[in-house]
Amino acid sequence: MNKKNILFTLLYIFIVLINYSNCYGESNSNGSPNYQERESLNLINLVRMFPKEYRDNYMSNNGFTNLFTGNTYPATFPLYFNETITKLAQYHSNDMCVNGCFSHNDCNGTSITIRFDKFLNCDRNWNRAENIAAGITTGIEANNLLLCDSSKMGGPCSLDASGYDGHRKNIMSGNYGYVGVGVKNLGSSQYKTCWTQDFTSGNCGGPTTPIYSGFHSFIKKSTSPTFIMIYYEIVSPAKNVETSLVFSNGTSIKMALKYGNINQGAYIVSLPSVENCSKYYFKVVTEIKTLRYPDSGYLQLSKDLSCQSWTPSSDTSSNNGGTESENPSEEPSNSIIIRSSNLFFILIFISLLF
Ligand SMILES: *[C@@H]1O[C@H](CO)[C@@H](O)[C@H](O)[C@H]1NC(C)=O
Ligand SMILES: *[C@@H]1O[C@H](CO)[C@@H](O)[C@H](O)[C@H]1NC(C)=O
Ligand SMILES: *[C@@H]1O[C@H](CO)[C@@H](O)[C@H](O)[C@H]1NC(C)=O
Ligand SMILES: *[C@@H]1O[C@H](CO)[C@@H](O)[C@H](O)[C@H]1NC(C)=O
Repeated sequence: MNKKNILFTLLYIFIVLINYSNCYGESNSNGSPNYQERESLNLINLVRMFPKEYRDNYMSNNGFTNLFTGNTYPATFPLYFNETITKLAQYHSNDMCVNGCFSHNDCNGTSITIRFDKFLNCDRNWNRAENIAAGITTGIEANNLLLCDSSKMGGPCSLDASGYDGHRKNIMSGNYGYVGVGVKNLGSSQYKTCWTQDFTSGNCGGPTTPIYSGFHSFIKKSTSPTFIMIYYEIVSPAKNVETSLVFSNGTSIKMALKYGNINQGAYIVSLPSVENCSKYYFKVVTEIKTLRYPDSGYLQLSKDLSCQSWTPSSDTSSNNGGTESENPSEEPSNSIIIRSSNLFFILIFISLLF
């Protein structure tokens, strides 16, 4: 090997390594996305592809009915996670919880447009939207409250196209291709947990994997996890798609196609009980290729912040909870706040097209 070849080899490996650290489905060095963000993202994709099925199996048993009754929200394609949009969403959730405001603009009054432009600078001609929520903990609760769009806690969901279903509209819209979900947990905040979902049509190059997302949820607050993988392949559909849930101890469990067809479906398996922080990944084998999600490492069966949602190795420690101080809070305006004895939630939405 001459010098030139060696140089080339090193350069190549270096580039591969850089790409590898940003592979799809992994977490960044801050543990982002966390378990709440992953769950919300994964269920956004499930409801987009299978609205009525999602309502009947993931919402109705908690009293959320009366939505997706007509053709206002047809089934649509899933969204890709984007780290930059996630940072934008996290920045805003952090601002709301730490500085105690509840609005689409920054707490200091800076407009949402400026915030979006600051983070997403490669193409400004995008469709954009944002949902915010507060006071709820899990991804499934946050998504269901947003989808329901009820005007009062526990009340009936707003009707499709009633004009009060703006969060539902954002989640179901065909205008967007990418999403970021940002959560801030802050016990000392009046909101406890702040949620931001940011959507853009994006056009700056993204992933191409047909595995859009995968994670677990605890439906109906049960202790049995349901593992859900969203698969959407329209470019080169396969004749056979075999999917499985693979644990780090080698146990592999076949996942059934629950909704859709083999190339555009939700593969789901529920297990009676799985140890906390068990490590797993989703595996797809077709006659053409073998894929895994996440691209490297393992997702972890996290129910709270006691273990990270993704791990590269056997290390399961590290906690991204923690304590932070809070500024004096203002009473939020232009939002719905409903308080019952020990529950409260707030939802407002905005849909921006510019
Ligand atoms: C507050 O305002 C400044 C502009 O004066 C802006 O750069 C900053 O990002 C704003 N928001 C937050 C959350 O600090
Ligand atoms: C995420 O979006 C940003 C632009 O906002 C873009 O530059 C970046 O390439 C996207 N990343 C991926 C992995 O799609
Ligand atoms: C492997 O781990 C999974 C998840 O924790 C568990 O359900 C399964 O029983 C384990 N298999 C073996 C052989 O220990
Ligand atoms: C398992 O989950 C419980 C409650 O969700 C948590 O308190 C505990 O720390 C977890 N155990 C481990 C090993 O992380």
